[in-house]
Amino acid sequence: MSLLTTTPGNTKPSLSERYAGVRGFTDRLTADLGPEDATVQSMSDASPVKWHLAHTTWFFETFVLARLDGYRPVDAAFESLFNSYYNTVGTPFPRALRGVLSRPTLDQARRYRRAVDESLRGALDAGLTERDPDAAAIIELGLHHEQQHQELILTDIKHAFSINPLQPAVIPGGLDQEPAVAAPDTGWTTFDEGNYEVGHADAGFAYDNESPRHRVWLDAYQLRNSPATCGEYQAFIADDGYSRPELWLSEGWATVQGEGWAAPIYWRNDGGDWSEFSLAGRIPLQADRPVTHLSYFEADAFARWSGARLPTEAEWEAAAAAQPIVGNFADVLMQSGLAPHPAAEVRHAEDDVGPLCRLYGDSWEWTSSSYTAYPGYRPPPGALGEYNGKFMCNQYVLRGGSCASSSDHLRATYRNFFSTAARWQFSGVRLARLA
Ligand code: AVJ
Ligand code: FE
Repeated sequence: MSLLTTTPGNTKPSLSERYAGVRGFTDRLTADLGPEDATVQSMSDASPVKWHLAHTTWFFETFVLARLDGYRPVDAAFESLFNSYYNTVGTPFPRALRGVLSRPTLDQARRYRRAVDESLRGALDAGLTERDPDAAAIIELGLHHEQQHQELILTDIKHAFSINPLQPAVIPGGLDQEPAVAAPDTGWTTFDEGNYEVGHADAGFAYDNESPRHRVWLDAYQLRNSPATCGEYQAFIADDGYSRPELWLSEGWATVQGEGWAAPIYWRNDGGDWSEFSLAGRIPLQADRPVTHLSYFEADAFARWSGARLPTEAEWEAAAAAQPIVGNFADVLMQSGLAPHPAAEVRHAEDDVGPLCRLYGDSWEWTSSSYTAYPGYRPPPGALGEYNGKFMCNQYVLRGGSCASSSDHLRATYRNFFSTAARWQFSGVRLARLA
């Protein structure tokens, strides 16, 4: 069975084909998880898989189906249970207690998905988007929302499984553990000083936080051709990186001390043998792989130790604008039987896009940019205005996407964001410095 619903040739899939493809991919990613797996919540940042399955469904029910005359919700209690943070919709059930909910069962959550899928397909077939053009845009947003939650499903269940002494595999073949196909390119690419345009410009989908497009002055800078590797990060650890306060931001140092951090979250050192918990279970550390699961604090300290710094989000975007979106992505890996994407690894010298590699996929890359509004940004009216804008405080921007992202979810202008101590995401680092 094919793991993806794709359309042959170059024809752009219709909205209903995309809907079926994205929803189906969530089901396939979670098909082997049982009710116990899907119910646990290992920390308050993470959510049970069952909750993700229902919340993404709730999004379509609340923001699309509720627009239909006479639509009756599948279950009135879901309005609060599966509302994440939309205070203008109602009062969400407390986030930290999501793992306490044994009901509705996984089976019921899956049936909720089917019921909403059927209603939505029926509405599309009956001409919803011709009658109500806003509905098409909201469905598109709902699909990108679901793709964000596919990534969260993988990172959240990975965290839960990592705590289990059985060290179970989430996906037996991995996604995040395939060997690097070539030695990483440790060279640098230089970008000239000048005014660069950043932010959403084309007709394709983008989140509100990618607008308005605007100019940014950049002094000449360099980016490392490939992301930092596990081997380089091991050298940072071996050089006492976690015990040297001068390398850390004050808050980062307090976190290192308070949490007892001495390595990335899933690393373990058994008598000199380093291993890492991956989606395929515990595996020996692979020195040439991009280092991942770093907090902002760890990425920043590593960059300082390296004599470099994190790029700003504008530096990252200016560099990525000319790059094709190739890399190791969840959809591509699942479809290819988990074969790494060769183009992610090796760029040819004659290639006019230059030697930058692995900009997309594998790991999101921390930037030194605070997640704030672009000049002139305004959240959209109504409840969907709560989607992004209200989080523009105390978080940093990450760029590029990860092995848990789908390829058609990413673009150069995409702004992901997390708080400084978060390290359960696939988050790594690409060094930058003054040219
Ligand atoms: C952009 C990944 C921080 O995790 O809350 C999910 C994505 N937004 N539902 C998050 C999101 C709405 C968001 N991040
Ligand atoms: Fe959400």
